Amino acid sequence: MIVHIYENKDQASLAAASLFCACILSKPDAVLGLATGSTPIETYQQLIDMHQSGLLDFSGCTSFNLDEYVGLSADHACSYHRFMKEQLFDHINMKKTHVPSGDAKDLLEEAGRYDKEIEAAGGIDIQFLGLGQNGHIGFNEPDSVFHYGTQIVNLTKSTIEANKRFFKADEKVPTQAISLGAGGIMKARKIVLVALGETKAEAVRAMVTGELDPQVQASILRIHPDTVILLDPQAASLL
Ligand code: F6R
Repeated sequence: MIVHIYENKDQASLAAASLFCACILSKPDAVLGLATGSTPIETYQQLIDMHQSGLLDFSGCTSFNLDEYVGLSADHACSYHRFMKEQLFDHINMKKTHVPSGDAKDLLEEAGRYDKEIEAAGGIDIQFLGLGQNGHIGFNEPDSVFHYGTQIVNLTKSTIEANKRFFKADEKVPTQAISLGAGGIMKARKIVLVALGETKAEAVRAMVTGELDPQVQASILRIHPDTVILLDPQAASLL
């Protein structure tokens, strides 16, 4: 695990975009693992800028997102399908994008199908991760085990609380998600985790210096052979 602490979140986000750029330049048909939430927004903007300035071509690339809320259709304003369209996909020329379906009739079947689709694409070359305040990656919440495949998860109170900001006041925040498992994330050949802000400081400390512990799902990254952690000073403040 390599840890870089930057002067601010703009630099950390540019570093993440640079790692994606380097990967795509050396493998134009790269399979990209993508995340949602507030953390990747600036990285995605940097990638859009690199594309629009002619530096980066996504036309050979495929992407797989980490997760989606259970019960939200792809066109729901708060779905991760919609988020990805607005924040990235509408502005670049990615060959094929995938986000797990949160409103599939049979969610377990959808989970199995998603894992097979990733495998059929050759596996993920580079995976972007944000970090939950409770140390989650994807929506793998604190647990007694690390799960392997894509699964249906119950979101913890703190995650539901943290996600409230994306929903209207009178809207119910989903309590379940379909998420790539920690084991599936570990299969990515390269992992880039970005953590920004003070609210992530304790999770960063536990991930970087704590024990390997499924109560902090991100701690599994300690045994991944190629993980880069990009932090701003606030997220790094307890290291
Ligand atoms: C999103 C995801 C989550 C977020 C995490 C941090 O696809 O998988 O693990 O990365 O909850 O969220 P933000 O970036 O909003 O702080």
